[in-house]
Amino acid sequence: MAFDIDMIKKVYANVVERVDAAREITGKPLTLAEKILYSHLWDGNPTKAFTRGKDYVDFAPDRIALQDATAQMALLQFMQAGKTKVAVPTTTHCDHLIQAKNGASLDLQSALNTSNEVFNFLESVSNKYGLGFWKPGAGIIHQVVLENYAFPGGMMIGTDSHTVNAGGLGMVAIGVGGADAVDVMAGMAWELKFPKLIGVKLTGKLSGWTAPKDVILKVAGIVSAKGGTGAIVEYFGEGAKAMSCTGKGTICNMGAEIGATTSTFGYDESMERYLRATDRSDVADAANKVKDYLTGDDEVYANPDAYFDQVIEINLSELSPLLNGPFTPDLSTKAGSDMTKKANENDWPLAVEWGLIGSCTNSSYEDLSRASSIAQQAIDKGLKMKSELGINPGSEKVRYTADRDGIIGIFEKLDAKIFTNACGPCIGQWARYSDPKNAPKNSIIHSFNRNFAKRADGNPNTHAFVASPEMVAAVAIAGRLDFNPMTDKLINKNGEEVMLDEPTGWELPPKGFEVKDDGYLAPEEDGSHVKIAVNDDSERLQLLEPFTPIGNDISGAKLLIKAFGKCTTDHISMAGPWLRFRGHLDNISNNCLIGAVNDFGRKTNLVKNQLTGEFGGVPDTARAYKAAGVKSIVVGDHNYGEGSSREHAAMEPRHLGVVAVLVKSFARIHETNLKKQGMLGLTFANEADYDLIQEDDTFNFIDMNEFAPNKPLTIEVVHADGSKDIVMANHTYNQGQIDWYNEGSALNLIKKENAK
Ligand code: F3S
Repeated sequence: MAFDIDMIKKVYANVVERVDAAREITGKPLTLAEKILYSHLWDGNPTKAFTRGKDYVDFAPDRIALQDATAQMALLQFMQAGKTKVAVPTTTHCDHLIQAKNGASLDLQSALNTSNEVFNFLESVSNKYGLGFWKPGAGIIHQVVLENYAFPGGMMIGTDSHTVNAGGLGMVAIGVGGADAVDVMAGMAWELKFPKLIGVKLTGKLSGWTAPKDVILKVAGIVSAKGGTGAIVEYFGEGAKAMSCTGKGTICNMGAEIGATTSTFGYDESMERYLRATDRSDVADAANKVKDYLTGDDEVYANPDAYFDQVIEINLSELSPLLNGPFTPDLSTKAGSDMTKKANENDWPLAVEWGLIGSCTNSSYEDLSRASSIAQQAIDKGLKMKSELGINPGSEKVRYTADRDGIIGIFEKLDAKIFTNACGPCIGQWARYSDPKNAPKNSIIHSFNRNFAKRADGNPNTHAFVASPEMVAAVAIAGRLDFNPMTDKLINKNGEEVMLDEPTGWELPPKGFEVKDDGYLAPEEDGSHVKIAVNDDSERLQLLEPFTPIGNDISGAKLLIKAFGKCTTDHISMAGPWLRFRGHLDNISNNCLIGAVNDFGRKTNLVKNQLTGEFGGVPDTARAYKAAGVKSIVVGDHNYGEGSSREHAAMEPRHLGVVAVLVKSFARIHETNLKKQGMLGLTFANEADYDLIQEDDTFNFIDMNEFAPNKPLTIEVVHADGSKDIVMANHTYNQGQIDWYNEGSALNLIKKENAK
């Protein structure tokens, strides 16, 4: 069974009780986001009102979704927790590791050839521990989640930033790092800073060439790529109700591009239609019984300024098609002459080489049907496609149904490449060039969400613009970035001037969804006999060994690197080619801190080995200390570890023998990740002490025996000339986190408690 209706009914019983309690405690009507948050408190019924943007709160999510790139380390860690099953319904989706090159069947086979050991590993772990498994080719995680698991009023987390897509079906769905997912899979709470709330009131109605995509492209243009940080965006108003459920998904999906914690919509008839069309009438029936609890209170939407931290109003009737880009998703330009002007001013190539439709953002049946209505006109009106066209359907269910209904056939008639139901070009898995670094300047247009340099094809000179699927189809036919289908004429093969009519399509397939093999494998009821296959000589997968506790005797530790300036999780554990080693801690540790600038010499990946006096790379030097039985220390600047919640950035230094990271300040998630891995994350009590640290320093922790909450630690720093400084280090460990440290990691502690 794809979803658990009993679990959903339990959530709805809680929703009623807890929302009523929360209304009383806060003394005000509630937004939808607040209702979902208050009804998912780890401690049960709300007992206090939380301050938005300030209080850290423990939550109990209903579901977890993992994608193949991030699932590897998450599941390797989960295996350390000593559990027989995941504590919360979880699914694994194979979608990121499939390259787009020759078309679906060849590409899928080639992915199986190159990544089969990873897929087999994910399948066997899923089978053993009770996770649902979606095979390569089954679809893109967020589309599959929307079709099968998302439900109004629910809370889920997923190890992918676009988990937020499920807001289209009225969830609070949030992208997290693997460590957070592991906690919840192992039965622990999930902590989040109570978000701020942005309300977006949609008035009017989309029509003609405008699409849900244009709404989020417009919002991104208004608030910028960071404008949603720390906030949940809640859409409401008559315009929201008039939109399809998958259209709402598109808007929520790209909420990640404004940095929002997540986005959501209140339960309405479009969601009910979608639930029924995707075989979940029982969920729709259950939701209908509590529907007032699955949307914001009337008073909130009538007077939004009083209840949201920020309110934006968009009149959909006035919206026109937008193209956002290049290189950033928040640079909006109206289709047509505005684009001509901007492109000329900025030297953006006007000729468009490729149009790409799909990704988790825009690959619904409605998206494909509307884009195909434009493609069909090219055939009917004797137009030749000027650009190449590529399609990534979101799921096998959508692809099979669209094929049955002739939609895929229309694209094929135009020689479009139908890629696998997978991420493909959206995540750089597009074999467009043999040498992408030296590929020519060009423009492409796609209906994806991200358009940073190199994101699609690895070519830094590709100018990628984001637009709705129907606009992608129209621009690809015209071959020009500044084509405005509402005003511009095209010349057909007979030399006649023709215009494209407005797109048409179906919100849902008129004959219903159909699929032969949706690619889902249910786990065994009792997976205890399932063997996990990992070859000892695999370069991509490595079973984890529990970390040994660092202990209280930290003396003679050497400085590994004093990071200067910005040191994000990307500097600590780079992505790109290293993604391939995400499931192999020892191999990926060869990228540890190689992007950080060493304060001494101001170069990256060049540090002094104090044992030999020689200079070398950070990972090699750390390995040399570890081999010699010498502990090491990383020193850093402000906001150390900002960026992603990637747990590799904490696991790698831990694996290489780093015992403490001492910085001016931390990005909070990274600080927590260090704690989870059983190491010390400390801050200078006196920031200026950062300047005391020298290249040849040795560190002695004087009072580790008294490691306790709210008590700073004392570190003696011995310089090369024998002189000493005492540095006081603050920390934020509570007793539970000190227990993690004492056990060697949070997972070691969970395992120990399980064994009791
Ligand atoms: Fe995949 Fe791109 Fe979405 S990488 S999950 S299709 S954002």
